Amino acid sequence: MMEDSLSPASITNSLDTRFIGQRVIYYPRLTSTMDMARREAQQGAAEGTIVVADEQTAGKGRLQRDWLSPKGSIALSIILYPSLLHLPFLIMIASLAVVHSIETVTGLKSQVKWPNDVLINSRKVCGILIESEMRGDRVDYAVIGIGLNVNLRISDYPEILSIATSLYDELGEEVSRLSLIQRLLAEIERLYLSLPAAESVYQEWRDRLVTLGKKVRVKSGENMYEGIAESVTSDGSLLLRQLDGSLTGMVAGDVTLVVN
Ligand code: BTN
Repeated sequence: MMEDSLSPASITNSLDTRFIGQRVIYYPRLTSTMDMARREAQQGAAEGTIVVADEQTAGKGRLQRDWLSPKGSIALSIILYPSLLHLPFLIMIASLAVVHSIETVTGLKSQVKWPNDVLINSRKVCGILIESEMRGDRVDYAVIGIGLNVNLRISDYPEILSIATSLYDELGEEVSRLSLIQRLLAEIERLYLSLPAAESVYQEWRDRLVTLGKKVRVKSGENMYEGIAESVTSDGSLLLRQLDGSLTGMVAGDVTLVVN
């Protein structure tokens, strides 16, 4: 497997950003970049500081799931201090930045599955986790975590074989993680700085969602809902038209497409 270095110098060298990724905390092996980023944010790390690891031993996914990130994948967390108004947009920014950078670096087209998975050919290639801490009605900090299956061979991991893919598996050749990270950081910064015009970020995100118009089953907390994924609101919630005609908004959940 390609051994591209993710050392701080190799990332910041020729990085086209003002602040995102200008400080890099790198570990060859770490439990989870989320935990480390949270610790750094609590100590007031500069906005845009990233924590990156070649390999995570206890990667975290949404809904208390584990996230597999062996060598060859990208595991990265970005520390931000957004306003409360902009907090719901972080998920949209991160998903769009992933889609754009995959396309720029590899030419592959990917889609967003609500709320925050990126798919290629209906299989998950990237997962995004946003964690934030509030102090009163202000955001103390937010961390965007991105896990991208880059050069792994999914056939080596039977536990995710039926649901996941990697850029290598889709493309048939290895991809530079460094180029992807640099592109990703530049895209995230561009979209983050465009947030005063949040409407356009929301619109592009909505247009990229494969979920809309489909019959879905959504597990939200202990409840299960079924209906048509009708739309998403600008705060990122999914509007589900249930079989009885009612429209329900959901902020988080686990979506399965219903095939019949
Ligand atoms: C999901 O799809 O459930 C979200 C997965 C998020 C994984 C990334 S990898 C980098 C960061 N560190 C973690 O432990 N998790 C996120």
